[in-house]
Amino acid sequence: MNLSALAPYESMLAGLERKSRLRRLAPRQGIDFTSNDYLGLANAHRLKAAISAAIDRGVPVGAGGSRLLRGNHAEHEALEAEAAAFFRAEKALYFSSGFAANVALFSSLPQRADLIVHDALIHASVHDGIAASKAQAVAVPHNDVEAFDRAARSWRQAGGKGRPWIAVESLYSMDGDRAPLLALADVADRHDGFLVIDEAHATGVFGPGGRGLAAELERRGNVLVLHTCGKALGVSGALLGLPSSLANYLINRARNFIYSTAPSPLMAAAVREALRIVADEPERRARLEELRTFAAGHLQLLIGVGPSASQILPVMIGDNARSLRIAERMRANGFDVRAIRPPTVPEGTARLRISITLNVDEDEIAEMVQALAIAMQEDRP
Ligand SMILES: Cc1ncc(COP(=O)(O)O)c(C=O)c1O
Repeated sequence: MNLSALAPYESMLAGLERKSRLRRLAPRQGIDFTSNDYLGLANAHRLKAAISAAIDRGVPVGAGGSRLLRGNHAEHEALEAEAAAFFRAEKALYFSSGFAANVALFSSLPQRADLIVHDALIHASVHDGIAASKAQAVAVPHNDVEAFDRAARSWRQAGGKGRPWIAVESLYSMDGDRAPLLALADVADRHDGFLVIDEAHATGVFGPGGRGLAAELERRGNVLVLHTCGKALGVSGALLGLPSSLANYLINRARNFIYSTAPSPLMAAAVREALRIVADEPERRARLEELRTFAAGHLQLLIGVGPSASQILPVMIGDNARSLRIAERMRANGFDVRAIRPPTVPEGTARLRISITLNVDEDEIAEMVQALAIAMQEDRP
């Protein structure tokens, strides 16, 4: 190959490096203040035992094909039946990842005449689904209910004939704040539209029995809920809760569901066990609540970080390079803290995304906050 073909890529990477935006894969090391393993399930004995038991009863590692062909295993169906009952949805559909589920949903359910109104901070996977959708899309300012309402109204007044699809996260992944779900559901009702709630960071952690924040909207026919399984549930994949007719539509139209090998049946067995753990071990949620309150108090006291509504505690830095330096120093001190930079977050809002999980205790949190206060003090802007 002509090596000059690589030059544009290399110069693009050099440009990212200059702006402190180059990403590199770093090893997992130090105490976990960064993962989404909120309930500490990723390494839980019960999940490993569920996989061993599935292997013992002959469940294969690989699905061997698409769900529409031989890849549809009894484990997938058993999981979907249990998940639908757990989340009180008419139907649950299991995808290989939350990213895939969002792409499937947004690329195929909203029709050409529809409008997608999404929060400005919505996850990248929703953006990718929208890019493949035939519907128009518009972003509105973060958590601004009035703006969602206005966008739907002005589209209708301008002759919009289809339905609006309102897309939000119940708990924002990089800010840790919550969406006003009831008010947004009212907007969807008022405009004869749908509300899609991405519960990635709330499933298993919040809501009655860990069913998520969207539990307050259960059984509304126009609410679709995405529960990812790689975060608090400790496994991988995602469960989309929705009316049966929409699930059947996805099975017929979502290209990345149809033309892709089904998730491992062993992962389906593990997710089923994770849902049971969420139901049987409420003490995990209670412990997380204690830890996140403790961490938020310390961060407020030593660093002046404002209150948070969740286990995601962003420490705003602003500058990309400074965020990277502080995160590197934290890792050198044994605390796995990561810098989150644009384009994941808006320009000028680089931050350290501290996440609290059951993989830490109070002493470790106190030591981490102490180290962070020193690192920030010694690397002042
Ligand atoms: C809000 C949100 N939605 C969807 C996803 C994608 O989920 P998954 O990691 O299962 O692909 C993530 C995680 O990266 C997320 O934070």
